Amino acid sequence: MDKFIIKGGVPLKGTVAVRPAKNALLPCMAASLLTTEQVRFTSSARHMDIISMLSVLEHLGADVEGKPGGRLSVRAANGHGDLEAPYDLVRRMRASVLVLGPMLARYQRARVSLPGGCAIGARPIDLHLRALATLGADIRVEHGYVETTAKKLKGAEVVFDKTTVGGTENILMAAVLAEGETVVRNAAREPEIVDLAGMLTGMGAHIEGAGTDTIRVEGVRELHGVTHTCIPDRIVAGTLLIAGAITGGDVTCTDVEPEHLEALLLKLRSMGAKVDAGESKVRVAAPRKLVSTDIVTQPFPGFPTDLQAQFMALLSQAKGTGTVKETIFENRFMHVPELVRMGADIRIEGNLAVISGPRPLSGAPVMASDLRASACLVLAGLCAGGVTEIRRIYHLDRGYESLEKSLRALGGRVRRVKE
Ligand code: EPU
Repeated sequence: MDKFIIKGGVPLKGTVAVRPAKNALLPCMAASLLTTEQVRFTSSARHMDIISMLSVLEHLGADVEGKPGGRLSVRAANGHGDLEAPYDLVRRMRASVLVLGPMLARYQRARVSLPGGCAIGARPIDLHLRALATLGADIRVEHGYVETTAKKLKGAEVVFDKTTVGGTENILMAAVLAEGETVVRNAAREPEIVDLAGMLTGMGAHIEGAGTDTIRVEGVRELHGVTHTCIPDRIVAGTLLIAGAITGGDVTCTDVEPEHLEALLLKLRSMGAKVDAGESKVRVAAPRKLVSTDIVTQPFPGFPTDLQAQFMALLSQAKGTGTVKETIFENRFMHVPELVRMGADIRIEGNLAVISGPRPLSGAPVMASDLRASACLVLAGLCAGGVTEIRRIYHLDRGYESLEKSLRALGGRVRRVKE
């Protein structure tokens, strides 16, 4: 297992280019199951989750060429005999459940292991299953697997009780090959949904309204191959910009979509940072003193839950009392005890964290507990006095590609070593 050793106290300065988003690539890769033709991705990212999704696609009979981090091509000419995403693959990455919609649409059946809970919450898939049932799928949950069949999916009105990114993606991928019109209400509006809809449209699907809460899909008989470029990773960009701000530095991210980062940029401005957003780039220069603020995590375009932990590290360095309210996941404060061990003043009351600052952080051995919590600890380590050792960074590698290299390019003193 690898760990990070960080010597804090250096203001990060410079420019980094951002790569395609994990959370856009994953559904788009699943969507390549919808056609017999080749689907090409002009670039990808070398995240563990991307590698896991490639294993799932290969297991389902797809031919994969290229390397994670570079161009990829996927061709699902024939369905594999058992059409099953087994427990061993799904437990490594819960987004494997995104193959359910496309498999059902293309092969009329699918067997996918239930993902189970994860560190940040229970994360059920009941909304995915209910939505697929509305389109006519027969669904059974047995022996830890979802088994689903449908002779022919039929378009219908799908109303999500709660906004769900993965649920919206699954239903879109099922509806594109269903008979007739599907209307998805209370759809997620995340940029990753718009990206997926763009790719599906490029494959011949008829979709309107992606990016709003009502999406209409007119099913087509078949889809063809496409070459697609996924959107840049707004969470990686946000993490690097916060890294600049927390160290008193000045960081520019290129190859980004500034409008995907608006909620974060608004908060950074209100804390006193100087923010310049241009075409495909964003620069954040830290003020001499950060001033505290409050955030509430919300579905897009609200403040993203995937930047909550990183932002909390920043709030620990701001003057005054700030609050963080987590409304998406029930257990996403696992970074708090570790931040407190490093010297932060944070009190938790239910889903609210109250952060008083600034408090100087001091380097300590800490343990990463999930993907974004790991990123939070890296940021804390970068501004802490002395040395921070972060164990279990395999969590980090699920969604950041060699984060230590990007940070070193900005002047950060971060090393990856074997435990
Ligand atoms: N939910 C249900 N039932 C469902 C589906 C969701 O109750 O059937 C609940 C979840 O438990 C959660 C809320 O609804 O409380 C929102 O979940 P959502 O379905 O929107 O999340 P997701 O699709 O599982 C994606 C990202 C997450 C990101 C969330 C929210 C991918 C692969 N994952 O998850 O990313 O936090 O949307 O924006 O796109 C990460 O990258 O670190 C990460 C966790």
